[in-house]
Amino acid sequence: MNKFESLTVKDSEFEDIIKDIITNETVLEMKKFNHHYDTTCFDHCMNVSYYCYLICKKYGLDYVSAARAGMLHDLFLYNWRIKDKNRKGLHAFTHPKTALKNSLKLFNLNIKEQDIILKHMWPVTLVLPKYKESFIITLVDKYSAIKESLNFYFNNKSLRLLHRYAYVFLSLMAFKII
Ligand SMILES: [Fe+2]
Ligand SMILES: [Fe+2]
Repeated sequence: MNKFESLTVKDSEFEDIIKDIITNETVLEMKKFNHHYDTTCFDHCMNVSYYCYLICKKYGLDYVSAARAGMLHDLFLYNWRIKDKNRKGLHAFTHPKTALKNSLKLFNLNIKEQDIILKHMWPVTLVLPKYKESFIITLVDKYSAIKESLNFYFNNKSLRLLHRYAYVFLSLMAFKII
């Protein structure tokens, strides 16, 4: 099976950079959790990692750290939609710390990689990213989340139909026709 099933581009340099990460058993567990609708956490991290790699490479930045941290940025390993009394705080605020903690148990990460993982939710988490690569992931992560959600919407006929009916119904209500 193609390890890069979520991507259409095959890039051997990129694959070499993240090879040890994507073959790690704990990291592979991300495939068990859906992140944005039908996109798994693993595929989302792969998308973010690859876009960060491409952008950082184009602008002469540290694309190796960006790709590696991108692949680990959501290594929280739980279904964030299901409430768990053992988890304190809101997922949006806490998961970067969890991902960093989990990643450090598995890999030696440089300071920049740690900052990229820890700050990827900025500005939701208030502390400013320290590096350009960290700023880039904040944008790429949001772009990927929107793209993955829209992909689900546009690939789901019944959901589109439901929205169309809801739109017509609300329009009729607005004009007091019903
Ligand atoms: Fe995240
Ligand atoms: Fe993410």
